[in-house]
Amino acid sequence: MISPPRPNAYRDSWSGDLDAARAGQDVRVAGWVHRRRDHGGLIFIDLRDRSGLVQLVFHPETSGPAFALAERLRSEHVISAAGTVVRREEGNVNPNLATGEIEITITGLDVLAESETPPFPIDEDTPVDETLRLKYRWLDLRRQGMLDAMLARTLVTRTMRRVLDERDFLELETPILTKSTPEGARDFLVPSRLSAGSWYALPQSPQLFKQLFMMAGYERYYQIARCFRDEDLRADRQPEFTQLDLEMGFVVEDDVIEVMEAVMSAVFEATGFEAPPAPWPRMTYDEAVARFGIDRPDTRFGLEIRDVSEHVRGSDFKVFESVLGAGGVVRALNAGKRELSRSELDGLNDVVRIHGAKAVAPIYLGADAGWAGNLAKFFSAEQIAAVNAELEAGAGDLLLFVADAPHVAAASLGGLRLELGQRFGLIPEGGHDVLWIVDFPMFERDESEPARPRWAAIHHPFTAPAGDLADPANLLSRAYDLVVDGVEVGGGSIRIHTPEVQRQVFDLLGLDGDEAREQFGFLLDALQYGAPPHGGIAMGIDRIVALICGLESIRDVIAFPKTASGADPLTGAPAPVGSRQLRDLALRSLVEPAPPAT
Ligand code: AMO
Repeated sequence: MISPPRPNAYRDSWSGDLDAARAGQDVRVAGWVHRRRDHGGLIFIDLRDRSGLVQLVFHPETSGPAFALAERLRSEHVISAAGTVVRREEGNVNPNLATGEIEITITGLDVLAESETPPFPIDEDTPVDETLRLKYRWLDLRRQGMLDAMLARTLVTRTMRRVLDERDFLELETPILTKSTPEGARDFLVPSRLSAGSWYALPQSPQLFKQLFMMAGYERYYQIARCFRDEDLRADRQPEFTQLDLEMGFVVEDDVIEVMEAVMSAVFEATGFEAPPAPWPRMTYDEAVARFGIDRPDTRFGLEIRDVSEHVRGSDFKVFESVLGAGGVVRALNAGKRELSRSELDGLNDVVRIHGAKAVAPIYLGADAGWAGNLAKFFSAEQIAAVNAELEAGAGDLLLFVADAPHVAAASLGGLRLELGQRFGLIPEGGHDVLWIVDFPMFERDESEPARPRWAAIHHPFTAPAGDLADPANLLSRAYDLVVDGVEVGGGSIRIHTPEVQRQVFDLLGLDGDEAREQFGFLLDALQYGAPPHGGIAMGIDRIVALICGLESIRDVIAFPKTASGADPLTGAPAPVGSRQLRDLALRSLVEPAPPAT
């Protein structure tokens, strides 16, 4: 419901709010011609505004000059119409329309603007090529699906604000033109005209500024913040996206988690997303990767991964033996009673190859729970029994094995699990699952420059370690992620609040003193002036809205998104600029401008 309009020359009522209680009243409505039908000498127009649809009826006798005007109306013309609300006759009631019990008998019509024929229908939910939708986004936004997404988006941010306002968080802004804030992606850079040769970076997140707010003593900050990351795009990644970003002073993990559970519970309730009630379970990173092969597990279905290395060690199967001998693992999942054809089984190899594994070894269990097929002969009866017990496998089950380095085996079986979960329809309709992932490793090895191996932060370099920095390989961090239905919707951490620890972490990341000062001098300075223990989290609003709307791609919940190649077909961005603009910025292009991207 929208609050009633202030009556003016265009409208005094919303179309979608009219009902039988208003029968007999004169009203004026305004909006777009959604659909037009001519029937029995009458003209019927479905009029659309943000509130919904109402049927207008034009009679040749009673509508006066409006009837002749109505004959010229086409889809998407903009009109204002006056008339009387009347109940429809019994047989003409439309139960599919909120206003289907009534219609408006029109006595006056103003045509406010005409429309060309739209390149795709606005009044139908037919699939339309995405580039065309983005090029004509203002028309696409008129379609019900997009309006629903924008309404959901508003409800989500409104609810977030309400809960945080109730808890006295300050809503503060942070700069867009700034210096690099590393979140693991490339920066978008903006050249400075006033300091030729120098560049701003667009923020990958407000991370460092929100920490400064805590150092300033503001205790509780939040912002609906736009973030910019130049990374390869996917269905759940955009180069600019929106976070609910928050930070709190004098807190430990449980304090931040409790606030976010209150915020997200309210969001789920407001939007009718049936999530289990908070507090939500916490799973360690190690457990998530071992059981589900991924640190954002979709726990709505089984097909869990098991390590069978010890059960198969010493078999005659060369592939497993050589992997185990090289420090690798053999892991497997029980796909259940499935009959996959040879080519379907081969197709599973393509799924695991994406994650770096060479192949999947499939084994069917016969009626006696013995192993059928070529591989069986390589394993002893004890090994077979031990694997069957580990995988809780019985007659007719299909077991799928991957032998590789631990992280490759995990990721491959994790990918396979998701693929099979979808293919076999194991994901329950309407059921949702929410959990925290905790106890992340602090670092991973960065081998991208073999001459200069170093550690990379798994979360970001400002995350507090959970122990002693002397043993980086086994160190955990104080980070936490929120995962809903296998989607990482948010992540945060308790931060480093002493300059010594921050310097040591920069050191491990391969930033020497000068580099660290050059990039993060202001942070190191701020840490010298009494920084409180603090921590926070950021939630991906686009991902949350997409989940709530049941949509795969966050492009469908962003009003003006970019395509997968980072282009905006609506405005033509990114686009070459003239030589004069470049000269003002003291820049020269080394490449021919690319043809306009689509
Ligand atoms: P992080 O990088 O984990 O943390 O981001 C937080 C959440 O933002 C969403 N997200 C994205 N959504 C759409 N497109 C993208 N390219 C994209 N990248 C991230 C995800 C993710 O969980 N400063 C830290 C937070 C903190 O430590 O408080 C940060 O930005 O849902």
